[in-house]
Amino acid sequence: MSIAGLRFKSPLILASGILGVSPSTMHILADYGMGGVTTKSIGPIKTNGYKNPSIIGLNNDTFLNAVGLANPGISAFEHEISEIKTKERLVVIVSVFGRSPQEFANVAYLAEQAGADAIEMNISCPHDDVSTIGVDPNLTYKYVNTVRKRISCPLFVKLTPNVTDITKIGQSAEKAGADALVAINTVSALAIDIHTKRPILSHGIGGLSGKAIKPIGIKHVYTLFKSVSIPIIGCGGIFAYEDVIEYFFAGASAVQLGSCLYYGYDIITKIHDNLFRYMETHEYNTISELTGLAHTHENEG
Ligand SMILES: Cc1cc2nc3c(=O)[nH]c(=O)nc-3n(C[C@H](O)[C@H](O)[C@H](O)COP(=O)(O)O)c2cc1C
Repeated sequence: MSIAGLRFKSPLILASGILGVSPSTMHILADYGMGGVTTKSIGPIKTNGYKNPSIIGLNNDTFLNAVGLANPGISAFEHEISEIKTKERLVVIVSVFGRSPQEFANVAYLAEQAGADAIEMNISCPHDDVSTIGVDPNLTYKYVNTVRKRISCPLFVKLTPNVTDITKIGQSAEKAGADALVAINTVSALAIDIHTKRPILSHGIGGLSGKAIKPIGIKHVYTLFKSVSIPIIGCGGIFAYEDVIEYFFAGASAVQLGSCLYYGYDIITKIHDNLFRYMETHEYNTISELTGLAHTHENEG
């Protein structure tokens, strides 16, 4: 399977921010069946993020978080990138953010120099100011185009579901030079403690992830597939191989796994093996044969 010229040994990719980014953890994930890893979002300088509680579990494998893009800053992270890169056949995607188009571009440039195979732009975190970029087609174009001009490796743009029409944002990113879109980041949400009468997370509003958001992710991938021609990487609420197939049918060429990893790494192997067993049983040879199949009915009479 390949996206933007990058070959992935499996269509399963670690989503940004879910696990620590120690090179040993990243290498273990490859052994469990991940074809690629996305680092947590890295900015120009070290950020501590919001106070606890910053993540809580809600009903039915659904989570609410506002970690505040805690990260070590790009200079402290360059060495980790080159260490993660030492694993054979593991695609390393570095997620980046900044406070201006130039800052985004500088972080992306340094990440590429350190060995990133691809850059993923986080313009979509709902509990950070970057969310103001990903809801505006013009800002999206400006930020993506500035980064595009600064780097030569593949550029992915991660989109927010917290918009009325995701196609406008996706098309702006494509026009500005993105090689692939990632859909979706977390859904803006709030939980209140009825005893203290206050929001539970220290930051208040957070991002919803896990099982509850899968239909939202599927809808956005389905809508994007009809309006852009670059590949789409599906993300949101994947816990089983059936969820991956649903994303492929909606239009995804690969998927990212996030919240399901709170249950350990065995789930990666289970999803991977069941997915390939399904493909074998149904006589599919490549993922691209599955991509977008849910759209074929639109052409039927
Ligand atoms: C604790 C936590 C931290 C996250 N941090 C980031 C981040 O740094 N950058 C980013 O682009 N997405 C981040 N995300 C969003 C995930 O990458 C993913 O888009 C989202 O969780 C939906 O997928 P899931 O339902 O499989 O978890 C974070 C999610 C969680 C739960």
